[in-house]
Amino acid sequence: MIKLRNGETIPLEMHKVKVVQKTYLLPVRERLEAITRASNNTFLLPTREVFLDMLTDSGTNAMSDRQVAASMMADDSYAGSETFYRLKDKLKSFFGTDYFLPAHQGRACENIISETFIKEGSIVPMNYHFTTTHAHIAKRGGEIAELLIDEGFEITSDNPFKGNMCPDKLRNLIKTDGHRIPYVRMEAGTNLIGGQPFSLANLREISAICKANNIMLVLDASLLSDNLYFIKMREAEAKSMSVHQIVLEIAKQCDIIYFSARKLGSARGGGICSNNLKLIDAMKELIPLYEGFLTYGGMSTREMEALVVGLDETLELDIISQGPMMIAHMAKELIKRGIPVITPPGGLGCHLDASEFVSHIPQNEYPAGALAAALYIISGVRGMERGTMSEARQPDGTETLSSMELLRLAVPRRMMTLSQIEYAVDRIHWLYDNRHLIEGLEFFEEPKIMRFFSGRLRPLTGWQDKLVEAFERDFGENSR
Ligand code: F0G
Repeated sequence: MIKLRNGETIPLEMHKVKVVQKTYLLPVRERLEAITRASNNTFLLPTREVFLDMLTDSGTNAMSDRQVAASMMADDSYAGSETFYRLKDKLKSFFGTDYFLPAHQGRACENIISETFIKEGSIVPMNYHFTTTHAHIAKRGGEIAELLIDEGFEITSDNPFKGNMCPDKLRNLIKTDGHRIPYVRMEAGTNLIGGQPFSLANLREISAICKANNIMLVLDASLLSDNLYFIKMREAEAKSMSVHQIVLEIAKQCDIIYFSARKLGSARGGGICSNNLKLIDAMKELIPLYEGFLTYGGMSTREMEALVVGLDETLELDIISQGPMMIAHMAKELIKRGIPVITPPGGLGCHLDASEFVSHIPQNEYPAGALAAALYIISGVRGMERGTMSEARQPDGTETLSSMELLRLAVPRRMMTLSQIEYAVDRIHWLYDNRHLIEGLEFFEEPKIMRFFSGRLRPLTGWQDKLVEAFERDFGENSR
């Protein structure tokens, strides 16, 4: 953050724009037609109809000139590519791990880890689940146990590490069900509760409990860069540590580390790292089966080269600060206007609390999904529902009501400008003043697995027309 004369702070972009992509801002009536064609599911909108794409930070972070240049050095050999060895060496220096299994993205790592270690009846304790993680464990007959600290579930808090796991909850679960636990999973930058970090001290404590009970600790490092930034800024002992020392200290606590390189390293791809050859050998055969040969694992070699540089850049505070600073600014501006957001601001994106924003919509009418559709209609900003729509139904068909109803507005790293963020804030503010017009949604096509990706929904009433009419009254007929 940089301080202005008037005492205010703003996030200063520590990069300059070299290549741009044109965006389109459709008139509000066309946006209503677009969301209707997309069946009120923001995943189904073509980007040609989106102005500000805040759906996800996955594969959408801007690459640096050095990353693009490095990608030209790729060695496209099926087996034994030089690119693979460059990446393996980089991961060895980055995490301090000797072994690396490449995979095409994060969930592919989850598929391999689950297939190797999960059995019918397994329980995987974790600080909090991610959608794909849960789906892969459930597919093998396992279940998850979310052992987040109680404060992690509170929307507003000043706890700097809401992604911590509660050590007592873990000890208790090990006492009652230890024999069913193949591994404990810690997620850096806990995605579904608002990009909230864990602390180094917490990870150490969880790791010690795991070691004392002979249980593996698996780290999902997809959102590690944000978590690193928060540890550096918020944890006293990290003040004197370099970012790399923090990474090495984190890695030392874990038996297996996996990541989505669509987030970590601002590239695309993924992989599994470990210092334990036995664990690697147990998973290794599945790489050529599901991913590709062991020296590329389904990744493009260009992306692998970009990742090598991206990992180096993850060690620079001026680079990993960019996302969290923009998010903190956006959260500050929204809070100033009385709009409910997750605090403290986390990584990945700014999260609107839909259960408060549209408190009149019951959870089984998908408040966060309805808010996502409404925001798109009035602004062209595309966010992602992270609430009950993102959960799976119980076997008997009843809804699993999510512990939080969030509209996630991702801020891909280095991709947006401050004026775009201010535009989003302005339109969210307008929507907040008109929130009584928003009503619920219902599915008319509902897939069984991860329904939020491709499910189709319709508004329960004609509320969307009324919302457009109100917008036109304030901004002019068929305005943008
Ligand atoms: N783990 C975490 C914490 C994630 O955020 C993601 C992806 C994955 C695993 C899976 O990785 O997409 O490469 O297969 N999160 C994306 C998101 C999809 O939009 O938050 P992937």
